[in-house]
Parts: sequence; C-alpha cells; structure tokens
Amino acid sequence: MKIAVIGSGYVGLTAAVGFAKLGHQVICIDIDTKRVEMLKAGVSPIFETGLEAELKAGLKTGRLAFATDLAGFLGDVQVVFIAVGTPGNADGSVHINSVQEVAKSVGDSLRTEQVVVIKSTVPVGTCDSLKQMLPHLEFVSNPEFLREGMALQDFLNPQRVIVGTTSEKAINLLKEVYAPILNESKNFLVMDPCSAEMSKYAANAMLAARISLMNEMSQLCEKLGADIQLVRQGVGSDSRIGTEFLNAGVGFGGSCLPKDINAMIDMGSVNDLEVPMIKAIRLANQSQKLRFANKVVKSLEHLGTPQVAVWGLSFKPETDDIREAPSFEIIDHFLHHGFSVRVYDPVAMPGFRENYKNSEKISFATDALAAIEQCDALCILTEWSDFMKIDLQKLKFAMKVPRIFDGRNVFDPRTMKKIGIEYYSIGRPS
Ligand SMILES: NC(=O)c1ccc[n+]([C@@H]2O[C@H](COP(=O)([O-])OP(=O)(O)OC[C@H]3O[C@@H](n4cnc5c(N)ncnc54)[C@H](O)[C@@H]3O)[C@@H](O)[C@H]2O)c1
Repeated sequence: MKIAVIGSGYVGLTAAVGFAKLGHQVICIDIDTKRVEMLKAGVSPIFETGLEAELKAGLKTGRLAFATDLAGFLGDVQVVFIAVGTPGNADGSVHINSVQEVAKSVGDSLRTEQVVVIKSTVPVGTCDSLKQMLPHLEFVSNPEFLREGMALQDFLNPQRVIVGTTSEKAINLLKEVYAPILNESKNFLVMDPCSAEMSKYAANAMLAARISLMNEMSQLCEKLGADIQLVRQGVGSDSRIGTEFLNAGVGFGGSCLPKDINAMIDMGSVNDLEVPMIKAIRLANQSQKLRFANKVVKSLEHLGTPQVAVWGLSFKPETDDIREAPSFEIIDHFLHHGFSVRVYDPVAMPGFRENYKNSEKISFATDALAAIEQCDALCILTEWSDFMKIDLQKLKFAMKVPRIFDGRNVFDPRTMKKIGIEYYSIGRPS
C-alpha cells in the first residue's frame, strides 16, 4: 500500500519506518529541511533503540523516502497519516494549528477515496471539525500509544490499534495497513472518532494517576516506616492492578502526560465541567518534583554554595527526549538557591545544554564519575541502566562527600549502608 506520513518526530518517524518494515511504500514529509536531509542520509535525528538501523534498511529497499513537500506524491498515496506536533498552549489548551494547516494543505488536492488519519494527539472533536472543513474526505482518528525508548518495538507489537471512524471504506483500508501486526483483528478496535480521541487522553490520565498515587504513597511510606518497593510488589501482584507504572520517583514528565493532563483540564473547563481528579494529578506531580528538590536543598544549604551532581536529564531512560523532564524544575530550584550543578546524561546532554547556554552555575561532565568529583551530593533523576552498573566503591571514593539523593530508587539502601554512602531514596527507609 502507498502511504504518506506527515511529521517525522518520535511518532511520525517511527510510524514511517514501521510501515516500511511491514512492506508498505512510504513517503515521510517534514517541514524541517535539516531533519529531512539527515533522514535521507540514513541518520536518525532522535535516539530510539533500533530505529536508525530500520531507517537505513527502509531506505535501502526503496520502500522509505523523505521529502519536505508532499505535492509530487499526493496523487499516488491511499492513506495520509498526520503525525505533526500538538504542543500545549500556556493556558493548557492544545495548539492544533499544524494539524489543521496540514489537513487544509493536503485536503484540497486529495480525492474522496483517499483517507486522512490523525495520529497526533488532538482534542476530542478534532476529526469531526476537520470533516466539516473538508467534507469530501474521511478523517480517521488513530491515536498512538507507543512508549518512547521502545517506540519501534511498541509500534510493531501494538496491544491495540484504535481506529475512530464510521466509514466502512476507512475501516477496511486501515485494516489492510495494519494487517501484518493485527492479532486476528482482536487488537483492532473500531469506534467513533470522538471515543478514539478520548481513549488516548483517558489512557494517559490513568497512567499519570497511577504514578501520582504511588508518589503520594511513597510519602506516607517515608513517614510510617514502610518500603514503597515492597508495597509495589504487594499491590502489583493483584491482577486487577498489575505492576506497570507503579514506580515512585521524582514525578512524571515527557511530551505527553503533562500536556495531555493540561488538555483534559482545558476540555473540562470549556465545557463547564470540573475535573477534580485530573487536577489533583497535576498538583500531586508538581509537588513531588518540588518535594525532592526541597529535600536536597534543606540538607545542603548550610554549606553555603554547595555543588551537586545530577545524573539523568531525559524524562525517562532510553530516550534523549527532555520535553517537560523533571530535571528542569529540580535543577532550576538548585540554581535558584545558589547551588552549582554538574550534570551528566548518556544521550540527552546536547538538547539540555541549549536551554542553559548563559548559565555559569551549570556544567556538563563527560561521564558519570567525572560528574561527581568535588560534589557535595549526587542526585539521580533518570534510571539509566548504566548508572545501575557503576562500581559503588569507585563512586564512593570519587565523591567529596559520599551522599546520594536517589530520585528513582536505582540502588539498594542496605548496600549503600554497607559501603558507607549516605543515601536517601523515595519512599524507603534510609
Ligand atoms: N512522543 C510520544 O511518545 C507520543 C506518543 C503518542 C502520541 N504522541 C503525539 O503525537 C504527536 C507528535 O508527537 P512527536 O513527539 O512525534 O512530536 P515531535 O515534535 O517529535 O515531531 C513533530 C514533527 O512534525 C514536524 N512538523 C510540524 N509541522 C509540520 C508541517 N506543517 N508539515 C510537516 N511536518 C511538520 C516537525 O518538524 C517535527 O519533526 C503529538 O500530537 C503527540 O502528542 C506522541
């Protein structure tokens, strides 16, 4: 099948590479010329396990191509996937102008038998409003559920493919597109566009709620002498609950959960609806980040102008994505209190550095051990597996003061005690 994917970010590029791997002929379009040149040369602009290898393979087979303009390709394609960004506005509403512009710019030239699929996360009702704008076309909602860091793997092994449309023609086309990865259609869920759009937001609200609930439990654990890791096992072994997304930490970040929570609050507000649970998730997440930052500040401020090391800048491991990462707010809090900060992340440093070009109080280390030299404490904000493998004796002797604030519960408190490292983690006895 001939497919166009518009947008070559985490979602668009993964989809384009994935569709080519499934045997489709894919043209992927992005307005960012530098990005398109990299992609044509087989270089992935984002860090995602296995993506670059499959990108190269797609280019080699000729099933995958990149361009900055769809004009010459429109006549041929049967399905157009729109996967451009939908960032949040300052008031929490969603900026869907790019989706609308792309729909308008391709829509006039498309024929009725061609289908436009919205993969971007958009407010509920967007597909219907696009249909009103361009009534000759079918607009299908097909929200994406991939996890960054596992993007291609998730795309190729979806737990479900949600297709929001009432058009039989569109359902059949999408079934054909996804056929190689459908589990006898059991994971192919068809519903109306609004329910499909809402499913994406509802899923993210559930995930964010689990994290925030566990973060709150971790605070109780600290006060009451319980261990949140053991509580996680106890709770997660209930098959109605499960263990996923139950790790307490410094709060969630990323380009999706915070933005989608804000969007739900905004959708409630414009419809005169209070959404107290969703508002509570946002509040709880905010206070979790600050609680961690304050704990560190309170412990070190008597030193005057301490230097802290930070390991991990991306919002989670295995990705270079720093959008809405907790590291920003926590580091800003340290800088605000006059601390110097020395940071290290295996892949996310270039993007992070761009945000702190003029700050003399923040420096960038070449490796994890180099980051902790001369530091009064180490803070762990992302659970990269590299950190778990570090030689703890070496770590102890490299630090001016062997003191760790572990925001991701990477190490075992008993081991730390044995080695003689002052150790504070989340929701566990020190
Ligand atoms: N990142 C995730 O894990 C994830 C998961 C599920 C859903 N989503 C949703 O998918 C959408 C895309 O997210 P992302 O993380 O891939 O974004 P991104 O910022 O990584 O990529 C968006 C891409 O779209 C391109 N673009 C913008 N306007 C364009 C236009 N007019 N024509 C062509 N290209 C254009 C940009 O240059 C950029 O490369 C968002 O709505 C997001 O909420 C993201």
